[in-house]
Amino acid sequence: MNLQTVRSAAEQAALRAGEVLRPLFDQPHQEQIKSNIYDVVTEGDLAAEAAILPVLKAAFPQFGFVSEEGAAGFSGDGVGAEFLWHIDPIDGTTNFANNIPFFSISIALADQALNPLVGVVYMPILGELFSAAQGHGATLNGKPIHVSGTVDMKRAVMSSGFPTARHTLPEDQNNLKQWRDMLWAVRDLRRFGSAALDLAYVACGRLDGFWERHIHSWDCLAGICLIQEAGGTVTDYHGVPERALTGAEVVASNSLLHAGMLDVLHG
Ligand code: IPD
Repeated sequence: MNLQTVRSAAEQAALRAGEVLRPLFDQPHQEQIKSNIYDVVTEGDLAAEAAILPVLKAAFPQFGFVSEEGAAGFSGDGVGAEFLWHIDPIDGTTNFANNIPFFSISIALADQALNPLVGVVYMPILGELFSAAQGHGATLNGKPIHVSGTVDMKRAVMSSGFPTARHTLPEDQNNLKQWRDMLWAVRDLRRFGSAALDLAYVACGRLDGFWERHIHSWDCLAGICLIQEAGGTVTDYHGVPERALTGAEVVASNSLLHAGMLDVLHG
């Protein structure tokens, strides 16, 4: 398979979704609650998903789909396929719903073991297209990117997020304990509200690290591909790379700070 051709199709699909979303930004939104009040879908998520799927289907009819808003369905379209697209039409829906420009379109192609082969993360309002293919490097708007060279936790800036089920989870699972511990260990923390954007920012060195639990393959696989191609490391909270791929536990770093992050998260 020519991964550069796959990457190009994913970029085209993300750009198409961006064209659909830009006119909807800064307007009132139609919002529906999904699992709870922290978990919403808007007209933008559905419109972006409807824009992405036909582009990818036309380019690679043999690939399956896992898409957050379920138009392709978990149990539908080609889930037995050798390769699957993992799509979040808007990662950071709460930001989009509030007209905050920190949301992204996240598209990854992965094999059945969830190894990401291609990853695209696009911020349509910020005008930034991050893209990577395994073995071909990672770029931001066509220019090569690399993780940061920060070696000292005390100089690091990191980000994280909070699970949508936070109100029902104990403090060591809802990230309040880890957030507090990390705040004392690093220079500063950010909560942008889009895991895919956070991971892209680690890939290009704006952030030195990111961690989050209870996210999904569509939130993280594109960003993981970017980081792997930009010289970073992604694992679960115990340092196992394969176990980060579902999104259940993700620790991403510039590689140099990985051990330091795992120490804090276990403290
Ligand atoms: C959310 C974002 C957020 C993270 C949440 C996710 P969504 O995705 O990635 O940063 O903290 O856990 O659910 O719902 O906006 O696609």
